[in-house]
Order: sequence, then C-alpha cells, then structure tokens
Amino acid sequence: MRVVELFAGVGGFRIGFEGPPESSSRDGARVVWANQWEPSTKVQHAAQVYVTKWGLEQTDDSDVYTGGKDDVFVNKDISTIDAESIPDHDLICGGFPCQDYSVAKTLPTAHGIAGKKGVLWWEIHRIIEGKRPRFALLENVDRLLKSPRSQRGRDFAVMLASLSDLGYAVEWRVVDSSDYGFPQRRKRVFILAERTDDWERTTDWIESGGYMAKALPIHPVDSVRSFSLSDGELSEISEAFNSDEGDTPTPFGNCGVMVGREVLTAKCKSDFTGEKATLASVLQSPGKVPDPYILEPESLVREKGWIYLKGSKRELREGTDGFTYRYSEGPVTFPDALDRASRTIVTGEGGTSPSRFKHVVKFKPTKTQKDRLGLTSPQSDEVRSRLELSKSFWLRRLTPIELERLNGFPDDHTELATDGKRAFFMGNALVCGVVDRIARILIKNN
Ligand SMILES: C[S@@+](CC[C@H](N)C(=O)[O-])C[C@H]1O[C@@H](n2cnc3c(N)ncnc32)[C@H](O)[C@@H]1O
Repeated sequence: MRVVELFAGVGGFRIGFEGPPESSSRDGARVVWANQWEPSTKVQHAAQVYVTKWGLEQTDDSDVYTGGKDDVFVNKDISTIDAESIPDHDLICGGFPCQDYSVAKTLPTAHGIAGKKGVLWWEIHRIIEGKRPRFALLENVDRLLKSPRSQRGRDFAVMLASLSDLGYAVEWRVVDSSDYGFPQRRKRVFILAERTDDWERTTDWIESGGYMAKALPIHPVDSVRSFSLSDGELSEISEAFNSDEGDTPTPFGNCGVMVGREVLTAKCKSDFTGEKATLASVLQSPGKVPDPYILEPESLVREKGWIYLKGSKRELREGTDGFTYRYSEGPVTFPDALDRASRTIVTGEGGTSPSRFKHVVKFKPTKTQKDRLGLTSPQSDEVRSRLELSKSFWLRRLTPIELERLNGFPDDHTELATDGKRAFFMGNALVCGVVDRIARILIKNN
C-alpha cells in the first residue's frame, strides 16, 4: 500500500503504517511522500525530527528531502503544492486542524466550491480530487462532529457531502485510545473514506463488517439513526444544516457511515477485552528523571502555584472590561492517578511553570535528588502534609520520553528538539497504535 502522509508532524501516521523508523520493514505499507510545514516559524522543528529519524537527505531543492525514489519529504506549505507533483498512491492520511468549513455560494461563472482560503480541509480535498486514491484516513478532534456552535455538525456534514461528491463512501469513529489498551485517554475522530462502487453500507458495516469495526471492535449498536444530507450544492448544506433556532445537538453519533449522502449513525462502545494500560506503565525510574522535571517546593505553595491551579476555586475576578465576575471550578486529580490511563497530552504540556493541565505524578526521589533539590526542607514537608504524601514521595512532571511512550513513539524520537518543543509535538501527535490497528486491517483486506 503506497501511502501519502499530509500534516506529518513528527510522523505518527508513518509509525502507525510502517512501524518505528529503526525497525520498520516497510512491508505491507510504505509512506512514499510526506508533507509537513509549520506556519510562522523559520526553523522547521518537526520537519527536522522527521528527516533525521527517517534518515532523509536534502536534495537540490532545499525544502525537499529523500531516502530514495519512493521516499520523499516536502517541507512546504501544502497550499503551494500542485496535486500533480504528488506521486500516485493508495491511501492519503493526515491529522489536520478543526476549522470553519463553511462554503459560500459559487458565482454562476465560477467552477467548484468556494471553501475559505487557509482552511486546510480544502487542501486535502483538492489533493484527493486530483489524485483519487482508493482510501483517505483522516484524524481530527472529536469537536469536528459538533462544530460550529451555531449549526452543530455542519462542518462534518460539508466534509461528508464533499467526499460523497468525489465518489467516496465514508465511515467514522470517535476513538478513545485508552479503550483499546493504550496508556493515554485521547479521544479523536478517525475518518476513513473509500472510493468504491459498493453502495451497501448498512448497520452491519458499522457494527462488524466495516474496516473500523474490524480494527477497533465495538458492541452491537442500537438506536441507529438515518438521515440524508441535502442533495443540493454544498453551499446549501453549509447554510441550512442544523440551522434551527437554539442550540440543537449534532445529529452525528460517535460512529457511522455515509454513502451517496445517506448517513447512518449511532452511539457505540468499545468491545476491547485485552489488558488496559496505565500511566504507571510508561514511567521512567526516578534516577533517570532530570532535575527540571522535579517540582520545586516553592512552586507548589506559592500564590499561583501548582496546588492553587490544580485545586477548586470560587473567587471574584476582574475582566478586561473592568467588571468583576465570579469564577469557580472544581479540583483536578492531583497528583495524576497512576493506576489508569493518563489524561490527554496537550500542546502546552512542556515547561516548568505551574499549570492545571500538565501531568504531575508522585514518585520516590533518590537520596541524591532529595539532597540536591531540598526535598527534606520544612517547606517540602508542608507540601507533603497538604497533599497527604508520605515522607518518601515527591512530585514531578512527565519527561519527554514518557510523553512519547504515551503516544506510542519510540523513546527519544524527538530528542533533537528542546524539551518544550518535544512536549508540543506530542500534544499535536496521535496514538500511533490506533493507526497501526486500522492499517493492519486495510492491508489484510486489500
Ligand atoms: C495535528 S498536527 C499533526 C501531527 C502528526 N499527526 C504527528 O504525528 O506528529 C498538524 C501538523 O500540520 C502542520 N501544518 C499546519 N499547517 C500546514 C500547512 N499549511 N502545510 C503543511 N503542514 C501544515 C503543523 O505544523 C502540524 O505539524
């Protein structure tokens, strides 16, 4: 299977299809062309990681790298790339941002759709239209199924209808990776489009017959809903989809299929029976944790420190307009639970500054760490008593290697970047094992 990887980042889809760079046999599936470009930065950090890890060499065109004829990496804005310059392939994949997919009416003289400029979905669409691969496998935040707020589900409806118009049947599934034995709770929608003449897509396809159901088993679904997307122009769907007064919920459940603009959708649950992985399973031994990851006692107790940010609050705050308002929020689990899958890694996970969202775990520091970092001071004892930690424990953030493990990347995959960037890459990336499960089914069945 020849694969094209768009929005490649540090190569999560590639690892899912081929395995990690050093052990990849490239049997079954191989990425023949990849694209990655970070807007508004001069240094292309993710691209550097990608070309280094896959051992690609710069060509005469300084933004193009290669590891041989069928292994090309292009570090250019996707909107500047001509579809014709991309080699033929069986599958195109990519994780792309959730943006506004509204479509304006095209002028009678203009051809095609008028998606907003800069909306990356229309770049993917343009390439699918030009190259017509058999499959497209796309990943997005699950909010895509519910956006925008004024017309919930509109963006996904536009996406489905536009794929239908290109001759593709589509299935989708919201996957929480921890439901399939991975150590991170990361909920993302995976969308698989297939160019096909087979118009038989029934409830059975969602439940057991389809690729997603085979890759990521679910319990039989009930209350399947069916509805048609309007058969008019995309601009009609864009204007009218779920546009009733008030906040009407999205009609899209967490799984479904669409063929010829006919949608079948339901709510499903994982039927995975294997072992569940925990946050504890990815942790490095205490001696391997560099000092900046170990929390300073003062950073816990200070005014806007870790204990405050993680805790519940009810307070008056002043808005930018000068008005005061009451702000309240509940506590988050602090430190993070080790006996279950971790919370989702977000792009702001890196850096020493206290935060509500960064992961913090308890661990047993070594004697030298304790001495070096003042973890026996009266202030550290105060922290232990406030958090009910016993004497031998202390708190730390997750290391870059642990973040990589939570997404299923090899240890030190991103080692050449700064720690902050490494965390950012993992916040942007995906759980490679979910792609691996889908890839295996696609390869086996084709
Ligand atoms: C959600 S991330 C995908 C991460 C990837 N799946 C991984 O495993 O690392 C989206 C990526 O698209 C890249 N990107 C954003 N705009 C782009 C553009 N116009 N052309 C090419 N790449 C772009 C970003 O730099 C980012 O790395």
